[in-house]
Order: sequence, then C-alpha cells, then structure tokens
Amino acid sequence: MTYKSLEEAVSCTQTDQIEEASCTETQQSSKIEEVCGAILLLLLLVLFIGIPNIVAFNSEPPRTKFTIADASIVHFNLASNNTLYYNFRVTIAAKNLQNYIKSYDKATAIASYKDNQLTSVKMAPFKLSSKNTVRLEPIVFEGNNVMILEPQQLAKYNKETQLEIYNLDVDLDLDCYKVYIHCPSLRVPLISNGKVAPNFNSTTCSYKDDRW
Ligand SMILES: *[C@@H]1O[C@H](CO)[C@@H](O)[C@H](O)[C@H]1NC(C)=O
Ligand SMILES: *[C@@H]1O[C@H](CO)[C@@H](O)[C@H](O)[C@H]1NC(C)=O
Repeated sequence: MTYKSLEEAVSCTQTDQIEEASCTETQQSSKIEEVCGAILLLLLLVLFIGIPNIVAFNSEPPRTKFTIADASIVHFNLASNNTLYYNFRVTIAAKNLQNYIKSYDKATAIASYKDNQLTSVKMAPFKLSSKNTVRLEPIVFEGNNVMILEPQQLAKYNKETQLEIYNLDVDLDLDCYKVYIHCPSLRVPLISNGKVAPNFNSTTCSYKDDRW
C-alpha cells in the first residue's frame, strides 16, 4: 500500500473532527467508497506491520504547505518617540498536499518585529482544491506601534535600515484545528523610489503546534 492511500484513509476517519472545525474539508464524494475500502486494507496493514507504520504517519508532511512567495516594504521607520511606522505587504502561496478540498474562512496574519507585535490582518477566505497551489492576494500591514527596543535590537534595526532589508516575522492563525503557521525571519526589502532592491527570496513557513 502506498503512502497516498494511507493519507486518504486517515482523512476519512477524521470526518467528525472536520465537521466541527470552522474550516471545511470536503471529501470528493466519488472517492469516499474507494477511501473507505482503503481503511479496511489499512487496518489490516497496521495490524500486520504495527508500530513502524504509525511512526511513519506521524512524520507525514504538513497538510497544507505555506510559503511566503513575495514581500516588500513601502516604508518602515522608527521615530524618536519609539513609534514604528510601517507599511509592507506579504504574498502567501498555499499548497494543498491532500486529496480533498480545503476552505480557510477565518485565517489571520499577524506580523511582528523584534518580538513586538504589529498589526494583525484578517485574510480573505480562500479555498484549495485537491493538490492545488494558490497564490493568495497580498496582505497589507500598515500602521504604527509604540515599541521599546533593547539596545541590541536597536543596533539591528539601524543595521537593517542601512541595508534596506528588514527582518520581519509573520504568523498565520488558521482558526481551525488550533494550527499556527510560523514564518520567521523574513528578509523583506524596502522598495524605495527609483532604487533597485534585492528580490525577496521565497521562504517556507513551518507548523508551530501539533496539527491535531
Ligand atoms: C511620534 O513621532 C512622529 C514623527 O516624528 C509624529 O508624527 C507622531 O505624532 C509622534 N507620536 C506621538 C504619539 O507622539
Ligand atoms: C536572496 O538570496 C540571495 C542569494 O543567497 C542573496 O544575495 C540576497 O541578498 C537575498 N535577498 C534578500 C532580500 O535577502
């Protein structure tokens, strides 16, 4: 039996949880019979092979892979009154690694800089069909926050200002399954008028907590 059918079988058994969650995962109905048939096979297989198989399942890849595909800063300025004024945008690509449709209706993106939380932005609902990759619309973080930076952090801010590349963290709260996605240490270039800035290098996010 392949890894793929293992995932499908497990997704079928998790239907109860899925219905209660605020995001929906819709089975493609034509596949249900096939999938549930796979469960019987799987149960036999698990009995037969036992623990090693369960360990393999636990190390399966995350169900949706999130990548920061692009990011750029319009302005980023720490005023002398310890207020950070910022305007930057982040474009996320989401890849569904599973064989069923997923909808994310209440996702929130939270940006932070040197352990200080900036704004959080409610993301537009999005849907991922089976094995599909979607580039989401850019998320714009704009506002100002009072923050006290430690001397070391301030030195880093000054260095980043010189380079015109700031290290920002973005978290995604998917508001389902208590899953948080962590996209730390993004090196985001400041796109200032006329100047050629280095390209943002796309960065893969990781899962912060247990998935279930
Ligand atoms: C902080 O400084 C900025 C720029 O100098 C100014 O526009 C803003 O009003 C100040 N904010 C506060 C809360 O004093
Ligand atoms: C992207 O990667 C290249 C090559 O490693 C590097 O030279 C460049 O500075 C990186 N860009 C940013 C914005 O960090």
